[in-house]
Amino acid sequence: DRGVVVAIDGPSGSGKSTVSRRVAAELDLAYLDTGAMYRAATWWCRRADVDLDDAPAVTGAVHAMPLRMVTDPADPRVVCDDVDITAAIREAVLTAVVSKVATNLDVRTELARLQRAIIAEETTPGTDSRSGGRGVVAEGRDITTVVAPDADVRILLVADEQARLTRRARERHGNADHSTLEATRDEVLRRDADDSTVSTFLTAADGVVTVDSSALGIDETVDAVLTVIAGAR
Ligand code: C5P
Repeated sequence: DRGVVVAIDGPSGSGKSTVSRRVAAELDLAYLDTGAMYRAATWWCRRADVDLDDAPAVTGAVHAMPLRMVTDPADPRVVCDDVDITAAIREAVLTAVVSKVATNLDVRTELARLQRAIIAEETTPGTDSRSGGRGVVAEGRDITTVVAPDADVRILLVADEQARLTRRARERHGNADHSTLEATRDEVLRRDADDSTVSTFLTAADGVVTVDSSALGIDETVDAVLTVIAGAR
């Protein structure tokens, strides 16, 4: 029978990427970071000097993007045109403009198609997929609603604004004082506001279990998610 699909959505700073990776490693599943695919699309357009405000040009570029996602939770990598762009797609200049690409509806259709193909491969026994068909933890903004609404487990990971800002500030600047919190505001809040114009990832859809990580550490959040998964299987 087919492998399991665990879909996890949430805003930036909710802990979604760290938690999803850890859960995938724990359950020996593949890990698919769909945000990294929007980042890769942005990297690819920038490298080709495509004007990010030119929607048809962006769509065309993304359709031609030679993207390969390495779904090992111990070392997830993003490779585009044989270039390992795992680190490059995290740069601030790219993060600042990724919403422009992610709000292009044709881009979303294309990336959702690629995401479903990866999920299908990871849940099909007998393929030489990463997980050997055991399944996948896929995380993003619209996995529970658009990409995999029929996933076996669907979770919305949330955290209050203060917790999300504090985490991102620590991650980026090593501390969360007044100035680093302010510097983090654009990356977290402005980006979520922009992203919200295309998907409503801040409220749980029907049948989606909400996990609030505001008062939880990483280990506790991983445990909470594992408990939800165990209950659903
Ligand atoms: O999660 P991460 O910050 O890497 O996501 C980068 C961007 O990709 C988000 O700001 C959002 O614009 C976009 N995204 C999306 N749908 C997803 C995952 C990410 O639009 N499923």
